[in-house]
Amino acid sequence: MRSPLRNLLLAAHRQLYERLARPLIFRGSAQTAHESLLRLLSELDGNALAIHVLKQIGRTVVQQTESSPPLSLQRGPGGEVLILAAGMVKGRGFHDEATALRAVDSGENIIPGWRSVPALVGLVEFGSFTRWPRLGNPGTVIWRDEPTRSTQNRVGLKNPGAQAAAAFLARHAADLPPVYGLNIAVSPGVTDPAQELDEVLTSLSFFLEQKLSPAWFTLNLSCPNTEDDPGGHQTAARARDLCGAILNHLVGTRNGASESIPLWIKISPELGADQYAALMQVCAEVGVQTIIATNTLPRPTPDNPGVNAGVGGGRLHQPALEAVRHLAAARATSGCAVKIIGCGGVLDGATAQAFLDAGADALQYWSVLIYRGPLAAALIQQEIELNG
Ligand SMILES: Cc1cc2nc3c(=O)[nH]c(=O)nc-3n(C[C@H](O)[C@H](O)[C@H](O)COP(=O)(O)O)c2cc1C
Repeated sequence: MRSPLRNLLLAAHRQLYERLARPLIFRGSAQTAHESLLRLLSELDGNALAIHVLKQIGRTVVQQTESSPPLSLQRGPGGEVLILAAGMVKGRGFHDEATALRAVDSGENIIPGWRSVPALVGLVEFGSFTRWPRLGNPGTVIWRDEPTRSTQNRVGLKNPGAQAAAAFLARHAADLPPVYGLNIAVSPGVTDPAQELDEVLTSLSFFLEQKLSPAWFTLNLSCPNTEDDPGGHQTAARARDLCGAILNHLVGTRNGASESIPLWIKISPELGADQYAALMQVCAEVGVQTIIATNTLPRPTPDNPGVNAGVGGGRLHQPALEAVRHLAAARATSGCAVKIIGCGGVLDGATAQAFLDAGADALQYWSVLIYRGPLAAALIQQEIELNG
């Protein structure tokens, strides 16, 4: 759909962001910008007029958001699905669960952006949420690399924990977007498979008991930014056990128990071709609907070569594209129907199209917001249309 108003708004956004906002934001560090953004989002969430305006802009420029669940991820001309990836709307960090729950009870906004971000950009995956709250890593946790339009982060899965997140979202259920996803991460540092499974299922239960109905749950099997990343979750055996148990847990969780909320998984770049093929096979066997490829790429930070942080944006694009190619090849060989979401350096129409050509059914993005502004997904959508 091409409306003159949409074209006008997107042209104005491009000029304003690239000529005015971005140079101003880039005068400071990525860390400062990130912290300011979270404060701004918190303010916007509580301002009814601002939400109204954001929704109007969102409705005008975003083409594909309000499909009813479950997301079909069916591609069509102009119907490419672009979803804001996990990590933007994930909530504040807390030391412990009791403090996080008290914050919810006292009406604090513990998930900045929960209302304003979907109002403007449409589809959003909230999280990652872990079983227990996490404060995340101290110090500088986010960097930009302008020449390659990349980001690097070691936020360290900062989040309020699944129980407080579920209580907070339930408290605001009437104002949640019609379609959203919830990303649950395996707790870093937990190596015992039984404990790991228990934590994931308990996290899911918090959301389900609060009668929240996301269009999908994502199990984040790839957490490269924590000091204690166990790294072993992505083996076929581990993924089979976790996903099988989660899918059992999700049976009958939608539409008066006649359907289940779909399960997606999110995996890393730079796995071997065999590992991608094995994961695709596991997903097909147990009934995972979608694989998000990929999370960020662990690389040394600009400040300290001894510490790794996850690279997103331009530097991630080729490895993520490679992952999608391996997954698509495995899918073609097995003939299964598992969907693939390309995520990693979706920066413009060309990078988005590269994922679609490699076999992706839909796209997720994060870093492009920094380089092209809040309406980046709508700009990319427009570029795909113009090139198509
Ligand atoms: C600051 C930041 C925090 C993130 N936190 C999470 C997270 O909590 N869970 C997750 O699954 N991915 C997280 N991600 C990864 C993104 O969802 C995405 O997979 C990655 O950035 C690649 O996309 P991009 O190249 O468009 O940035 C985070 C990314 C950034 C930049």
